[in-house]
Order: sequence, then C-alpha cells, then structure tokens
Amino acid sequence: MSDQQEKTPGCHNLTKDGPMVFVKHLTEYEKYRPSYTEKGVEMVLEEIMLPKETSSSSLKYEILELGAGSGKLTELVAPKIPPGYRYLATEISRDFLEILKSKSLPVETATVNASNIPLPDNSVQNILCGTCLHWFCKDEYLKEMHRVLIPGGKLISLAYHEDFDVEPWTMEILKQFSEACEVVGPSRLADVTSPNNWEQLKPMDACSYSTAAKRERIPAQGIPSGIDSVLNYLNTLSIYAYLPDDKREAFFDRLKQIITSYPGVDPEHVTVPLGGLFDVFTAN
Ligand SMILES: C[S@@+](CC[C@H](N)C(=O)[O-])C[C@H]1O[C@@H](n2cnc3c(N)ncnc32)[C@H](O)[C@@H]1O
Repeated sequence: MSDQQEKTPGCHNLTKDGPMVFVKHLTEYEKYRPSYTEKGVEMVLEEIMLPKETSSSSLKYEILELGAGSGKLTELVAPKIPPGYRYLATEISRDFLEILKSKSLPVETATVNASNIPLPDNSVQNILCGTCLHWFCKDEYLKEMHRVLIPGGKLISLAYHEDFDVEPWTMEILKQFSEACEVVGPSRLADVTSPNNWEQLKPMDACSYSTAAKRERIPAQGIPSGIDSVLNYLNTLSIYAYLPDDKREAFFDRLKQIITSYPGVDPEHVTVPLGGLFDVFTAN
C-alpha cells in the first residue's frame, strides 16, 4: 500500500495504510491484547452452526474471517468447527498472518484487504470479525462483504472495547486519547471521543446491505490487573501507535502519572474496564 493513498472520511478515519500500524506492535499485540471468553466463542459457534438456509452451488466457504490478526479468535473457533466446514482466515498484514499460520490451525489463509475480497459473488455463508468490524464500517467494505455473502448469509462480530466512560480516572485517559487524536489527525477525533466507542458501528444500522439480527453486550475477558499490564495494553492501541515516537513517550509518561496519582486508583490493581459486544447482521 502506498503512502499516496488518501485519508478516507467516515467511520474510523484512518489512512488506507492505517491497519499496518499494528505491524509495529506485532509481538506486543499477541502478548498484551486479551483473548475472547468461552461464552463469546460459543455464541459465534451457535450462529455458524445453525442449519444452512441455502445449498448454493456457488458456496466456497462456510466461514470467511476478515481482519483475523494474529489469530486470537481463529484459534478458539477453528478447532471447534465440524468437519466439512471450509474456513478461510484472512488479514491485511502479512506479518500478522505469519503469526496466525504458525499456530497450525485447520484453516486456509490469505492476505486480504477487506475492501477487495478475492472471492466470487455469493460464495460465503458467514463472515466473522473479531474486534475489527469498526475498521470496516464504510460503504466500500460493507458493499464488498455483501457481495461475497450469499443472500441471508451472516456477518458475525465478536469484539471487546474499552469502557473508558465508566470510571472518573478512565475519563482522564479518554481526554488524553483526544489529545493523541489531535496529534495524529483531527479527522479521527469523532471515533474515540464518543462516550461509547461502539457508536462506531452505527453505519451498520443505517446501511441497506444488511439487517441487524442480534446485538448483545457480554462480559469481555479483560486484561491482568496492574499498571504495567494497563500500559502494555494501551500501547497496542492504534491511536498510540500512530503517534510519532518522540510524542509517544510523553503520552505514556502522562498515562503513568494519571494512573499513579489519581485519587483512589491503586496502581497494583488497576485495570482497563473492557466490555464485550456480540453482533449478527443478515445480508439483505
Ligand atoms: C483490533 S485487530 C483484531 C485482530 C484479531 N481479529 C483479534 O481478534 O485479535 C484489527 C485487525 O483488523 C485488521 N484490518 C484493519 N483494516 C483491515 C482491512 N482493510 N482489511 C483487512 N484487515 C484489516 C488489522 O490489521 C488488525 O489485524
């Protein structure tokens, strides 16, 4: 992807090479991002294993995972898929995909940009997204997902998100996020300063490609408590990755200061409140 590509307005306004920021933090991402709960994985499996509504001959995959990253969700779902189900796990970053491949899971893999899926029309039964649908809430992606899904096919999203608005000290972090956004680019502000960052999925409700079938808040797995764990987690978030190196250090000094000096916050037991969200959309 070239640096020449324009910034795209809309949900999660990132440069088109934005996703590549994760590449900077591959090892940290794999180590410090949480996994998914059993309950969440069960909900995904239930949706995937509901009887097929079609026996379309054009069907190539029962499951297409987009933005699979290092395979945190893939490694929980793929081993539980019944024989005969074809699972293609994809990711835009080749380096992330290498980590996923090293896990030797029963899936096919491919480097894929979700805005240009190299599959025929009506060839996928279910699209699975683990904490990445917010990257795809734009017409070019929604249209593409709709194109490859069979009519009535499902877009299943399991995600965790920071509940930065639930505690006073995390509101301080949210404020700092806004400052980081200003450094990175004001066009991204709307996404991260929203009181509930699942506002990001709003374009899904308005689009004509799919109909929301389920939305459930569920507990997220969470991260270990303690200031190091919190800082390590925050360091994997794309907004901090986008900061120039010299600025990132100052931001992290400030984060440490917030955590160590905020009244009532115990740095040894502090954690980032995470919530889980399960969504199913049916292709129109
Ligand atoms: C927050 S990570 C989630 C990764 C993984 N699903 C998980 O559960 O850990 C979001 C992922 O979406 C990927 N991504 C972002 N934009 C993408 C695009 N246009 N096409 C495909 N993947 C993309 C990123 O590279 C990253 O791996």
